[in-house]
Amino acid sequence: MQLAFQEFPAHAYLDKYYSYVGEENNAWLRAILEAAHTLDRAPERVAEVGGGPVIAPLLALCTVWRDAPRRVGFFDGAPQNLAEVRHWVDAAPQGFGYEAISNWLGQQTSSDITRVIELLRAATWEIEVWDVDQPGPEDWVGMCDVVSSHFFAESATDVPSKMVDYLRRTAALCRPGGLLVLSFMRRSAGYSVAGHDFPATSIDEHDLGGYLAQAGVELDDFAWSTVGVEDPPTRPGYDGMLFCRGRIRIGVAVR
Ligand SMILES: C[S@@+](CC[C@H](N)C(=O)[O-])C[C@H]1O[C@@H](n2cnc3c(N)ncnc32)[C@H](O)[C@@H]1O
Repeated sequence: MQLAFQEFPAHAYLDKYYSYVGEENNAWLRAILEAAHTLDRAPERVAEVGGGPVIAPLLALCTVWRDAPRRVGFFDGAPQNLAEVRHWVDAAPQGFGYEAISNWLGQQTSSDITRVIELLRAATWEIEVWDVDQPGPEDWVGMCDVVSSHFFAESATDVPSKMVDYLRRTAALCRPGGLLVLSFMRRSAGYSVAGHDFPATSIDEHDLGGYLAQAGVELDDFAWSTVGVEDPPTRPGYDGMLFCRGRIRIGVAVR
């Protein structure tokens, strides 16, 4: 993991990106809800890779299922991010609130969001440091029904071949036929949070397929969408967002 991430400002990041639902989060959460709808119930095992301090994708999936997976694997390279996740799971007072996102999810799905939060918190969580420069946790590789990873592979490096490695190791957690749900900053040259600068690799809908192929990821039922940046004058460091999902093709294991 690049040094910059050792000081990833977990709480400032949550405040900056997840304290409201604007056009970008609206499109992002919708893409995750649509992915969740491709399953008819909560699966056994879900992993979040490069999850940072953010539980929102898991919460979005669970609002559709109105239930939680039995096991949740939450992985990131920076321990302070995982501490934030632990606070949320424990309903600790210092945990991030997610009010804007939970209210939005409750409204969109007409689900009892308070109950969904209870169910998700009650799952068996394995919250572990995984530096994705290394192979994935043995107990999780090839075992997950759903792997969710957002703004990680392209946001963790400015070296395209490393991004491809991150995509490969993320997808490798999926079982054959498992659902992979990914999001990217579109065409980013890097981003800043609370005075910290982070690298990025540019990716868009035209080169996504090529990068997935390089990573050895072959997907069935593939779907993608984009949204433009919601406030261009703020120069956020990307020109939009790119979302995709698909099922790992049976017989084509990702290694
Ligand atoms: C832009 S944040 C994305 C966080 C979150 N997934 C989200 O949706 O906002 C990028 C994350 O990648 C993590 N990261 C960067 N390099 C990593 C590596 N080599 N292994 C694991 N995590 C890494 C950082 O700690 C950070 O949490």
